[in-house]
Amino acid sequence: MLKAMDPSDLPADRSRRVQRLEYAGEALDVDALPTAPWALVEDWVRVAHERAVSGTSRAGGRRVGARVDGVGPTVIEPAALELATVDAEGAPDVRTVLCRDISPEGLQLFTSLVSAKARQIQHEPRVAVTWTWPGIFRALRFRGLAEELPRDVVDEYFRNRPWGARIGAHASRQSHPLENRDELVAREAELVARWPDTGAETDVPTPEHWGGFLVRPTSVEVWTGRVSRLHDRWRWVQPEAVGGTGGPRPGLQGGDLAPLDDDAAWTRTLLQP
Ligand SMILES: Cc1cc2nc3c(=O)[nH]c(=O)nc-3n(C[C@H](O)[C@H](O)[C@H](O)COP(=O)(O)O)c2cc1C
Repeated sequence: MLKAMDPSDLPADRSRRVQRLEYAGEALDVDALPTAPWALVEDWVRVAHERAVSGTSRAGGRRVGARVDGVGPTVIEPAALELATVDAEGAPDVRTVLCRDISPEGLQLFTSLVSAKARQIQHEPRVAVTWTWPGIFRALRFRGLAEELPRDVVDEYFRNRPWGARIGAHASRQSHPLENRDELVAREAELVARWPDTGAETDVPTPEHWGGFLVRPTSVEVWTGRVSRLHDRWRWVQPEAVGGTGGPRPGLQGGDLAPLDDDAAWTRTLLQP
């Protein structure tokens, strides 16, 4: 179990102008490390959601979350991660998105299919993710392949969004230029008139330009911040799926990938911090 601690109580190095926080994460128990990464990933995602400052979020297909009331380490927006892609010219790009579900198959993200990220993934499905919870000195890091989610999964998630967010998804052509904000507000007003809030989850249809991706990992790294910057890092890879640089190999297909809980598919390495 994660011990309760408040990062503001930790000793800070005042010898420099920038305050430095001593990382005091819980050590990884080598004897308890799983052969395949799923058990640890699932546990960390669960703990991050349990440490959420307030409210509830979805993880692992169920609603979890707890109010911490200012006691112990906390996580703000535990579902937020950074998704890195490359564009058609090979230049990297990165942005924050929410992980709405995680299973041994991978991480589910929802977005606009006309967005920059979606266009980049359509061109180059190899992506990278960092999922960092500084409040508990933990980070997960993935490289892998993004696949578009089937429409039934997208529809089911869309129906569960609040009415306003469903209207907003129709109003925005994400990542495209906008003349001014009034244009967006006027479009929203039109849509509100067309699809008023009836309280039914089907009152706003799923926009064709809206969808999601499943990020299927080829490598997974777990990181725990430790004192004196001697952090713990373990990396699992699927040797069959990675190339010489350790990333997903060129031409990799979804069918070549094993789930995160397949003991036979993963190898594990301890890394220097
Ligand atoms: C905390 C947070 C959560 C976000 N969640 C999402 C999300 O789940 N899906 C999404 O499309 N954009 C989300 N965004 C907005 C993205 O960061 C980004 O601005 C947008 O997706 C456009 O990115 P793109 O132009 O690279 O496609 C979120 C931003 C923040 C700060």
